[in-house]
Amino acid sequence: MKTAQIKKLPGIGLVAAFCFLQLAASPEPKVLKPHYDEKGNLIRPSDYREWMFLSSGYGMNYSPAPDSHEMFTNVFVPRWAYQEFLDSGKWPEQTMWLVEERGAESKGSINKHGQFQTDLMGMAVEVKDSSRFADKWGYFAFGNSNQSSEAMPKGNPCWSCHDAHAAVEHTFVQFYPTLKPVAEKFGVYNESREQVQDAK
Ligand code: HEC
Repeated sequence: MKTAQIKKLPGIGLVAAFCFLQLAASPEPKVLKPHYDEKGNLIRPSDYREWMFLSSGYGMNYSPAPDSHEMFTNVFVPRWAYQEFLDSGKWPEQTMWLVEERGAESKGSINKHGQFQTDLMGMAVEVKDSSRFADKWGYFAFGNSNQSSEAMPKGNPCWSCHDAHAAVEHTFVQFYPTLKPVAEKFGVYNESREQVQDAK
């Protein structure tokens, strides 16, 4: 037994060295699942621009009074969760969604009409995790630079609006044109959520 263990050691050493080299070679670990600091606040996802892009909105607003400044929104979800959704029509536990807000500008370079995106103004994150959040979905608001964010308390407007109006679970698939046919195929698309109505 002892000799067998000793004989195996060089092999184990090689595997360990290989793992170490792999770790050393990758610049930063990719944060594809939610990470929390010691206070339980969500750490700002940094690499979300490499996630799957779902859609953009321009000046989307859910209250009748228009904002003084229209913004763009861009929605992203990690690729592993996107793939599970394509395969099953269900969002897996520990999926994160991120919506970033960017300024809009019309004057610049050769542009004559329409709007293009500019600086980051803020971002919001939603997490599906029934073992962490009593009502399954956690909501976090980030400004354009803060590194962590506390979950919105129970009964927050984020949860209520997403619960009342999103077409698939708590996600607004009615606004994500490539996911809508997937949700319809699996019979998980709530078509009534497309009706024109006021947000409550
Ligand atoms: C009055 C309704 C409403 C409220 C309140 C609201 N949202 Fe949303 N949210 C939406 C809609 C509509 C979309 C669709 C995409 C868009 O706006 O670009 C969305 C999209 C999102 C997305 C992208 C993934 C998805 O679910 O479709 C995230 C993340 C998100 N919201 C987080 C938040 C957070 C965090 C808050 C609270 C700070 C919040 N939302 C409050 C309506 C709402």
